[in-house]
Amino acid sequence: MSAGPGQGLRPVTGRVGEAVRDEFPIFAHTTYLNSCSQGALSHRVRAAYEEYLAGWDENGAEWEFWVERAEAARAGFAQLLHGRPDEVAVTTSVSQGVSGIVSALPFERGGRNRIVISEYEFPTVGQIAHAQELRGAEVVHVRPEADGSIPAEKFAEAIDERTALVCCTTISYRTGHRNDVAAIAQAAHAKGALVLADSYQAAGAIELDVRTLGADFVTGGTVKYLLASAGLGFLWVRGEVLAGLMPTQTGWFADEDIFRMDISDYSPHATARRFDAGTPPVPNIYAGVAGLALLQETGVPAAEAHVSALNTQLIAGLEELGAAVVTPSDPVHRGPLVCVRSTDAPALVASLAEERITCSLRDTNLRVAPHFYNTEGDIGTLLGALARRRHLLA
Ligand SMILES: Cc1ncc(COP(=O)(O)O)c(C=O)c1O
Repeated sequence: MSAGPGQGLRPVTGRVGEAVRDEFPIFAHTTYLNSCSQGALSHRVRAAYEEYLAGWDENGAEWEFWVERAEAARAGFAQLLHGRPDEVAVTTSVSQGVSGIVSALPFERGGRNRIVISEYEFPTVGQIAHAQELRGAEVVHVRPEADGSIPAEKFAEAIDERTALVCCTTISYRTGHRNDVAAIAQAAHAKGALVLADSYQAAGAIELDVRTLGADFVTGGTVKYLLASAGLGFLWVRGEVLAGLMPTQTGWFADEDIFRMDISDYSPHATARRFDAGTPPVPNIYAGVAGLALLQETGVPAAEAHVSALNTQLIAGLEELGAAVVTPSDPVHRGPLVCVRSTDAPALVASLAEERITCSLRDTNLRVAPHFYNTEGDIGTLLGALARRRHLLA
């Protein structure tokens, strides 16, 4: 397992739980356990948006500073992933990054034209993969075992010399399962295929180290555990594969020299910036840089250890209630998200909301997603509420 497992983590040194709550006004009135959908808004991120507006008011177009902020975001993502800034594209979404990747792959019929995707990919990844059928691609789905896990061997069985790209999300947004990205990447690389790890449900909540994760592409965004808002993402591209990739989905900020304003040819930047596209999403970058900085003050290892302990408490409590926990109890096989089966998930989420407990749902599961700002008390509050709604748990 490449991404740091929940057990044997470094001790919690950063500020977590009550010590960071003052930054997040929502906790004054809500038990917020929905970071898999949207991270809680902090004073810091709100102030960053206000700073953007104030600078615009004061100076009009602050282009140079805005471009510098985009570089700050690139550097922040690189630090988060233990990569280099020249391996990071600043995107507006995972969709942009993934579309850029596939646009650089030829998918010629009879050649390397297969895309292998796990059943736990986010819709955008599955839909972009299937869109490539129009260009000659074939999509192969890797489905979970009865226990919900997708062992690396199942990927290996689906990968062969016809495989161009393997998509294995790091954490399932539907069930909380963690894929063994390193083992899957090893199987893919043995057959010459590239590997994409959509890490949106991991970034900021579990340590992601691209030096050991094994994937060639790692993508995510700032909406969830990175504490900011919609409209900003990242795509890390392994330096060694970069030179061979010419994305045809592109834009002027991906050019080797954006200031030349040249319309006579396509000359993408030598670095991963070739996966950037149009004008950077400046307001979201202000928020993203602020969210990243706030998280890094605690540090992802401390956040991960804290969340893992909360989830251990949660799973134990759910098991005491006799509930059907979908997410593996072993921290090695799970991430920050815990899913539990419900007899009526929409009714359960709505009923919890009446007590100002915010969770979410996917399929027939209640999704509970704590972050570094949650406490044992929050988990206790949720477990108490679930005990009173036992009939809504399967
Ligand atoms: C695993 C995963 N991938 C991707 C996304 C979002 O993709 P995009 O940034 O293209 O909207 C989400 C979140 O909603 C997600 O959970």
